[in-house]
Amino acid sequence: MAPSIAEAPASQIIVPVKADPGSIQEKPRVRRIIDEEGGKTTASYPNYLPTWDYAEKYPPLELFNHVDHGKDADPSFKHLLPEGSKIQKLTPTIGSEVTGIQLSKLNPAGKDQLALLVAQRKVVAFRDQDFADLPIQEALDFGGYFGRHHIHPTSGSPEGYPEIHLVHRNNNAWEFDQYLAEKNSSVSWHSDVTYEKQPPGTTFLYLLDGPEVGGDTVFVDQVEAYNRLSPAIKERLHGLKAIHSGFEQAENSRNRDGVVRREPVQNEHPIVRTHPVTGEKALYVNAGFTRSIVGLKKEESDALLGFLLAHVGRGIDYQARIRWAPGTVVVWDNRVTAHSAIIDWTTGERRHLARITPQAEQPYETPYISEEALSQP
Ligand SMILES: [Fe+2]
Repeated sequence: MAPSIAEAPASQIIVPVKADPGSIQEKPRVRRIIDEEGGKTTASYPNYLPTWDYAEKYPPLELFNHVDHGKDADPSFKHLLPEGSKIQKLTPTIGSEVTGIQLSKLNPAGKDQLALLVAQRKVVAFRDQDFADLPIQEALDFGGYFGRHHIHPTSGSPEGYPEIHLVHRNNNAWEFDQYLAEKNSSVSWHSDVTYEKQPPGTTFLYLLDGPEVGGDTVFVDQVEAYNRLSPAIKERLHGLKAIHSGFEQAENSRNRDGVVRREPVQNEHPIVRTHPVTGEKALYVNAGFTRSIVGLKKEESDALLGFLLAHVGRGIDYQARIRWAPGTVVVWDNRVTAHSAIIDWTTGERRHLARITPQAEQPYETPYISEEALSQP
């Protein structure tokens, strides 16, 4: 039986618009998780608890000129990884873990090298960081170096800081059961907000609270996913574009009495995207937002997209799974990866993370190069 609102965890409570059919009750302008927790909360970072301001509206995003700092970086990484720091690979193609540095102390050269390292390794976990303890504005100032902040159209944010995207979930056994009543698995591959004309590049996610075990995030290397395809399929994919849509996300939010701060958009992006710094080609489709392939009939589009998404999802041999720990900041390149949270804990522990989401260039492609041409000296 579904629990009553009084028993429901705070993250599940929907603010009623009408108390009963006869009386119209004003919806509060701002929904605050901290209010729903009775003003006292067990959150380690109450300043980061989500709020949704129903009055907040933003105009459509405008194009901007993105400068990728990875291009200026010294590939020796001497400012990012000085003596005494440690970096180790999680898998051969994707994922590294770094200890012994403090991201918040990086100088501009170190930040350039961070952009390059993340472009090369696709996702990097930095342990024991002070990021969550910084004033929120300082964390934003740091992230703003990497591109224009994206303001998410539907997600909760700390009050006054709409540029921070928050992930917040308690997971009691009943909530977990409800979640899996409609799905076989919590795996939900996506790259963030690829429906935008200029989707994010170097992207930051840091832990505020998390379950002792569970709630990992898994990343897939979309460059390696492209590399694994046969020359015939690679060549055919070049020149094709796919539609990425934010409409379903907005609709979902509206249905849950959430906010839609900016009207949804959809955009076409090339299926094979070239990274501006590494020159690597990545498969640029994701199950979260890619809906169809331009110019193909429905059955053709469904079949080809279905194959590509299945290929990405089952590629455990080019995926890296990150286990969160207090102080962990994960930085990934959203242009060449997809990711999924793993919803697998049933303890009711809070999983609370903050994302800083700098936007990057408009996705572009470069011509197909055959394997023979590539192997020419
Ligand atoms: Fe995401």
